[in-house]
Amino acid sequence: MSDDIFKKIISHAKEYGFIFPSSEIYDGLSAVYDYGQYGSELKNNIRKYWWKSMVQMHSNIVGIDAAIFMHPTTWKASGHVDAFNDPLIDNKDSKKRYRADVLIEDYAEKQFEKAEKEIEKAKKRFGDTFDEALFRSTNPRVLEYRQKGEDATAKMAALLDANDLDGLKKHIEDLEIVCPISGSRNWTDVRQFNLMFDTKIGSVSEGAETIYLRPETAQGIFVNFMNVYKTGRMKIPFGIAQTGKAFRNEIVARQFIFRMREFEQMEMQFFVRPGDEMKWYESWREERMKWHLAMGIPAEKYRWHKHEKLAHYANAAADIEFDFPFGFKELEGIHSRTDFDLTAHQTHSGKKLQYFDPETNESYVPYVVETSIGLDRTFLAVFSHAFEEQTLEDGSVRTVLKIPPFLAPIKVAVLPLVKKDGIPEVANKILDDLREDYMVQYDEKDAIGRRYRRQDAIGTPFCITIDYETLENNTVTIRHRDSMEQRRIPAAELSAYIASELKPKKT
Ligand code: GAP
Repeated sequence: MSDDIFKKIISHAKEYGFIFPSSEIYDGLSAVYDYGQYGSELKNNIRKYWWKSMVQMHSNIVGIDAAIFMHPTTWKASGHVDAFNDPLIDNKDSKKRYRADVLIEDYAEKQFEKAEKEIEKAKKRFGDTFDEALFRSTNPRVLEYRQKGEDATAKMAALLDANDLDGLKKHIEDLEIVCPISGSRNWTDVRQFNLMFDTKIGSVSEGAETIYLRPETAQGIFVNFMNVYKTGRMKIPFGIAQTGKAFRNEIVARQFIFRMREFEQMEMQFFVRPGDEMKWYESWREERMKWHLAMGIPAEKYRWHKHEKLAHYANAAADIEFDFPFGFKELEGIHSRTDFDLTAHQTHSGKKLQYFDPETNESYVPYVVETSIGLDRTFLAVFSHAFEEQTLEDGSVRTVLKIPPFLAPIKVAVLPLVKKDGIPEVANKILDDLREDYMVQYDEKDAIGRRYRRQDAIGTPFCITIDYETLENNTVTIRHRDSMEQRRIPAAELSAYIASELKPKKT
């Protein structure tokens, strides 16, 4: 997808009330966005879908809602005070700032793309006789490009592990990475920058204390481990889920709602017996991918990315990447977090954070498998995949959001064909009946075709038209957004019909 399409998606989101720049009347605030009347509905629906599949559908997972502010020692224990840093580098000519690791990962990605291009070229050249697997494993150019990409990220991981910032700068220079804006290799030194926002709690005269806006929701779950385990009489394996805001002072904030300074996460920590974590890690990887696919978005839009450099708390980690308009990028992380967090909180708080296992008669600090997904990124995945400009048979263009129907902000629009002869009254009666169960909208302005276009543009899956025939036999036409097909059904069957069409696939 091109830059042009991405620009269209961003302006469509604004024009149709999905997403606005924050405090726009003051020219906005970088990397902060507000969700409008349709955006907040779509966001709520995605959140509800996640909550239902994680909490409602699992008898051993419960949900909580922890505070954003937490005791400052939380972040010392979790490692965020010391290690939640981005390695930054500036280009002296363009004055642009970059994450050093992202520059290297982009370089590696380019090498992998070059290898794929070689394969594509060969495919065209050899036609049906082409043996792709053989070519992949033996062609010297393909192997060289792939090796270059892998070496670049492996060396980066080692340098980051050793916190060798001078080495990281030299690595960027050796790879001859240029600034995408200035095209020069005139780089500053690399330095670490902590991403947490801090603020003060209490009045200054009483001795205010520095606290942080949480950079992830997960820690609210860890500090409540004993509370939930005891009050919920939970038995291992069990999970605690929550959704909520997180804050990061992202330096390279770009790509619309992909990387924001204030965003929302949907996280679940699954507590397991030590030694069982890899089994659960694999099981959650599978389950989370099914969740994505059940939205009806094709499988080729997703791929796995195994982490080269593991976070300070993980012994295995993989991301589900999505094919955003700007390429494949991280959408969700599945991490095996060991007993790192609970042990650290146990040490820093002096409180026992252990589970007594009645099956083995021993107490231990459970291991944790985490699933962590950005709500805003899921929104962007759904929204960008849904956006389509179609040229119709009559040559006109319709813009349609093919949002999975069960997530659509407005489910049904009720449209009286004319504004007279009692038709609006019948339409309003049908509207009120449907309102009990669905987000509905009434529209009687303009020709019916224009009204359909307005609903297509906000992704409404069903338009109900009330006409003279409705007065005679109480039937209505129902138009499907994606096929634009219309069929006539009795008004009394509407609610049941819509309900059957709105179910997501079972995961
Ligand atoms: N508790 C683990 C954790 O926070 P993460 O990979 O840093 O892991 C998890 O974040 C998810 O949160 C990401 O996969 C992404 O979807 C979302 N996310 C992270 N930073 C974000 C940002 N600045 N803007 C929007 N979403 C973000």
